Amino acid sequence: MGAIVILGAQFGDEGKGKISDVLAKDAHVVARFQGGGNAGHTLVIGDRTIALHLLPSGICHEDKMNIVGPGVVCDLEVLVQELALAREFGSRVLLDEQTPIVLPIHRMMDAVREVALGARAIGSTKRGIGPAYSDFWLRRSVTLGDLRSADSVRAVLTRGRYMEEMFGAWSLVRGEQIRIEQVDVRVHPMHLDDTIDLLMSFADRVVPHIGDTRACVHRALDDGKNVLFEGAQGVMLDAYHGSRPFVTSSLCTSAGVSATFGVHTFDRVIGVAKAYPTRVGAGPFPTELQDERGEELRRRGHEFGTTTGRPRRCGYLDLPALRQARRVSGIEEFVITKLDILTDLEDLFVCDHYIDVDDYTTLTCSVLENAKPHLLRMPGWNEDLSNCRHYKELPAAARAYIELIEKQTGTVVSGIGVGAERNQILWR
Ligand code: IMP
Repeated sequence: MGAIVILGAQFGDEGKGKISDVLAKDAHVVARFQGGGNAGHTLVIGDRTIALHLLPSGICHEDKMNIVGPGVVCDLEVLVQELALAREFGSRVLLDEQTPIVLPIHRMMDAVREVALGARAIGSTKRGIGPAYSDFWLRRSVTLGDLRSADSVRAVLTRGRYMEEMFGAWSLVRGEQIRIEQVDVRVHPMHLDDTIDLLMSFADRVVPHIGDTRACVHRALDDGKNVLFEGAQGVMLDAYHGSRPFVTSSLCTSAGVSATFGVHTFDRVIGVAKAYPTRVGAGPFPTELQDERGEELRRRGHEFGTTTGRPRRCGYLDLPALRQARRVSGIEEFVITKLDILTDLEDLFVCDHYIDVDDYTTLTCSVLENAKPHLLRMPGWNEDLSNCRHYKELPAAARAYIELIEKQTGTVVSGIGVGAERNQILWR
């Protein structure tokens, strides 16, 4: 197995959590490399549904080493809840001391920016992700390691007149363009002592888990152990390769693993794609179905955000987007999830290209906004897929759907999801 990367190949919510939960069984180390509390992985284990936002899916397996890398931005409240869950499952957690913490002020700024952007709002999760990453690149994050002492936290927040600089955003709040009640924060975001007290109230639960995550990953790989790197969001939301500005603020491709853990060669890079793409938040989506067909997919697939509960926009499979995702991200194989949701669908189409757009054209926001999808009608099927465990058990039309993806993306589909349970996946 060696180093395996699991990435979202679309706009997030592809069902990566389930795939990494399954593959985590054979991994020694499972590492989350980017994103923060904006992500939501839903796992169905027996009669229990578990939503994870920060810790990797390996925490649901006894005795795995679960890592949160330096490329993640950490919401402490979410983190301590998930640490308790890891304890329940008997798995270990190692947190990087350089992992930036999402502050109350970041959440406030996220909300303020969204209001200020008006009609061009990103539709962010308002979890403070963009502002937390901004502070990382400005080299002034409060990190998990700082939780070892209140003085370290205070030093970061008072260096270079940090709080004073935030007053620009705060004045918008005071100017009532946005009411403080609208911002989901536990303390007054501009109050230094309250912020420090809040952060330090988590310290005794977090600090014992802090260690050298990069050493752990490299040692494991050199010892021939299996390390699974778990991505959040998806290639189409990547800060470079997504439809900027309607993207998240981190590196969602395997470059995110390389940048943050310094691991550059992988044994497998798996792109997870849903049989029909979905998107939450704003931004172009050429194959979106804005009519009752989209409603129908949303209803069948329970397409509501794990983190924010927002309804997801649904559409037909977009093969040019999958080709770009594969090209720019290092993906070598696809796992297609939720194929069962397409059963009984009357009109089944896929987009094989955009009219008059060369296939190598980078799918920027403006390209996608103007793209006219060319649709192919696909034969549908009525058979229930949920009990299929071997590829040959799938109806011919479902196999044709998978084989079209392989042909059009020039890669293999190694796994197919036919239900929410751990065992409802067939490997080829
Ligand atoms: P942010 O990451 O909260 O700044 O949001 C930026 C964009 O990424 C918005 O369109 C969000 O809806 C989207 N986004 C962030 N995280 C996820 C996710 O886990 N799944 C799907 N969309 C996401």
